[in-house]
Amino acid sequence: MTLLAFKQKLYTTLESHYPKTELDSFFKLILEDILELSKIDFALNPNMEVSGDSISKINKILNGLSQHQPIQHLIGFTEFMDLKLEVNQHVLIPRPETEELILWILNDFSKTISPNILDIGTGSGCIPIALSKKLENAKVSTIDVSNKAIETAKRNATYNKADVQFLHQDILATEKLTATYDVIVSNPPYVRNLEKVEIEKNVLDYEPHLALFVADDDPLIFYKKIAELALISLKPNGALYYEINQYLGKETVELLQNIGFKNIELKKDVFGNHRMIKASV
Ligand SMILES: C[S@@+](CC[C@H](N)C(=O)[O-])C[C@H]1O[C@@H](n2cnc3c(N)ncnc32)[C@H](O)[C@@H]1O
Repeated sequence: MTLLAFKQKLYTTLESHYPKTELDSFFKLILEDILELSKIDFALNPNMEVSGDSISKINKILNGLSQHQPIQHLIGFTEFMDLKLEVNQHVLIPRPETEELILWILNDFSKTISPNILDIGTGSGCIPIALSKKLENAKVSTIDVSNKAIETAKRNATYNKADVQFLHQDILATEKLTATYDVIVSNPPYVRNLEKVEIEKNVLDYEPHLALFVADDDPLIFYKKIAELALISLKPNGALYYEINQYLGKETVELLQNIGFKNIELKKDVFGNHRMIKASV
């Protein structure tokens, strides 16, 4: 099979499942990550033969994509803030809005000497690994209730040579944090069951529900618990950073006010949705 024949096969197999822009991005990812070629290589040599080994990998990926498996699972990793991170069914695939949250923290704490940072809800390790790599001498710990997520995140920390301390812990059952912090950050589960209708099949069927969903009648359960813990465990110039449910910005701000936070900033992501909050005491 030539590169051109592979491209045609990808588009004909998947055109009834995905919009064209997504097919373009699948083609680019498979070209780069499986065939280790660029779009320029393809443009210059569309009749290059694909090896038998690569053809069987590509067929497996096309088959998975036709069943709506996430491309990142099929390739085995994703890119996040210039880092390569393994992802699987036990961890949330890191999202672009989480990069925006990290950029906010980097902007605020790049001059702090050895900031002490706690991340709650490790997942792939995207937040603690990125902060540990990008903030010089940061001391970063992260908590998750999922052993499988922690195992994945540990592999990601090793691969990216990041120094992160991992804690297997249920934050909802935590009475007190064990240290004081310059930054407490969390992207906790926040999707209400009532929002399931908006969730794409590739997310609903293949990403961990433990990472995504909260009860309709208590959607801010994690925000409340973490804010109560943070109130007494943030250093005087420290700050709490949250990724939030875009539909619950006002409610999350009110919750933080009621708990005792004073400087509360609600921020929009690049798509104009309220997605992040920073608060301090
Ligand atoms: C929305 S995901 C965020 C993952 C990662 N931080 C990211 O931004 O991609 C939430 C994470 O919280 C973890 N989690 C769920 N319930 C928890 C609990 N009670 N205590 C600690 N972590 C929990 C899940 O396992 C999941 O990894």
